[in-house]
Amino acid sequence: MERLILSGQEKTEMALEKCDAGIRGLKTEPFALVIFGGAGDYAKRMLMPSLYHLFHDGALPEEFTIIGFGMPPMSDEEYRTYIRASLVEFSPLPLAQGEWDAFCSHLTYLSADFSSPQAYGKLALVIEDTCSLNVRNKREVIFYFAVPPSAAPLIIYHLGQHRLCEGSVEPKMVMEKPFGRDRFSAAELNRLLLQVFEENQIYRVDHYLGKETVQNIMFFRFANSIFEPLWNRRYIDHVEISVAEQLGIGHRGAFYEETGVVRDVIQNHMMQLVALVAMEPPVGFSADLIRDEKVKVFRTVRAMDASYIDAFTVRGQYGPGEVGGIPVPGYRQEPGVSPDSNTPTFFAAKIHIDSWRWAGVPFYLRTGKRLRKRATVISIFFRQPPLALFGKTCDILKPNALRLGIQPHENISLCMSVKYPGIENQPYNVTMDFHYDKAFEVERHSAHERLILDCLKGDLTLFARQDGVEAMWTIVDPIIRRWEEIAPGFPNYAAGSWGPPEADALLERDGCSWSRF
Ligand code: BG6
Repeated sequence: MERLILSGQEKTEMALEKCDAGIRGLKTEPFALVIFGGAGDYAKRMLMPSLYHLFHDGALPEEFTIIGFGMPPMSDEEYRTYIRASLVEFSPLPLAQGEWDAFCSHLTYLSADFSSPQAYGKLALVIEDTCSLNVRNKREVIFYFAVPPSAAPLIIYHLGQHRLCEGSVEPKMVMEKPFGRDRFSAAELNRLLLQVFEENQIYRVDHYLGKETVQNIMFFRFANSIFEPLWNRRYIDHVEISVAEQLGIGHRGAFYEETGVVRDVIQNHMMQLVALVAMEPPVGFSADLIRDEKVKVFRTVRAMDASYIDAFTVRGQYGPGEVGGIPVPGYRQEPGVSPDSNTPTFFAAKIHIDSWRWAGVPFYLRTGKRLRKRATVISIFFRQPPLALFGKTCDILKPNALRLGIQPHENISLCMSVKYPGIENQPYNVTMDFHYDKAFEVERHSAHERLILDCLKGDLTLFARQDGVEAMWTIVDPIIRRWEEIAPGFPNYAAGSWGPPEADALLERDGCSWSRF
């Protein structure tokens, strides 16, 4: 009998064809997507381009309606023109007339005040008119909250009052982080949500979880047998996670003044990365089993009191400087920002995870706006070999480091030492590199597209669960409070630098240094 032996390349191609067919073949049932804030910035820049891309890829069903619910008065026709202009500006896809005509026939607009009870009555009628019944004889309605967090309670209240989430409606709700401003308000928001939705109807978006390379962290750890045995305190010296941004706060001054770096990035994106690196293998791949393991990580992060926070966290705010050779203003000079603002735009800290696996292994976390380079990278530094066999030259050996590049370079690299050719016993540091884009030449979906698809499919794996959200707030609340108690000397780093010198000192005390990429 002839055996079919496939080369690695052929296997990859077959797997990719299968994945592609999976996306293309995904025809969910009819649905209505109600976007609160349908004419807002977020809908314009992020949501509509994602929906258009999914439509282009054939990933949406024949029957669906997108209902923009917003304050500016517009007719359906005006709304379509407005969305068309935003797609031209923000969609990476060129707009083909035929395709646009087909897409825009699914768009409708309801101009109304979020606080007006009549508006929700009208919304119920629009849903009934435009959303077909699914096989269960129900209408699947997704309520997407593309509004400032302060507007959410009012909308939730009216959805409840008008019974928009019951009867013939199968509701889902999607909300972007930040979920609350602290643990208390997150719990309160959840209490309101649970009056109208079930927990498994709530999709809390952290777009980092939709990134392909973030999802890959778990695959990399649990699909390879060679790293997992080393993935613990016995072999790992320390872990560094950097989420460095070159961008400033752009047009989001007012939002950022309310938020600051801890609420914006640490409580959510950074903590999700920590969880993916530190979690135990889940007993299965279902949403709750994975989320259970992440929550355990959050609960084992050592609580930080005031003296710990003073010693092991660093905050910063950028002043004027140059990024990539271009002069840029300081944070206090940005539009919408107070000239004496004390809002932090930089965070660095050493944290501990008090679990069997990680006891004694410091996790160094760093994020900031207007830093020298854009780089989201997880670096795992392994312990040095137990004996300095190569005499003095051993001093110059760098530890083995495994780097998981999330963005802009999507790669995995392993740094190791080899012998430099010649008669001397000279060690030399080299890198083994895997690059996502070279290995897989396939078009990929953006994080938001992936999350919208998962929401349509009803897969909650990549969304935050309430107990996780509250546990993440429990970690960061003391830092926010402590920082608010003591006035900082801002600005304390120049735009285009790597942050305040205290951040370097934090690691130097432990004989380490931040990666410069
Ligand atoms: C958002 C934050 O959630 O994430 C922004 O509000 C930040 O301030 C952004 O810039 C970073 O996302 P990404 O995908 O560009 O790394």
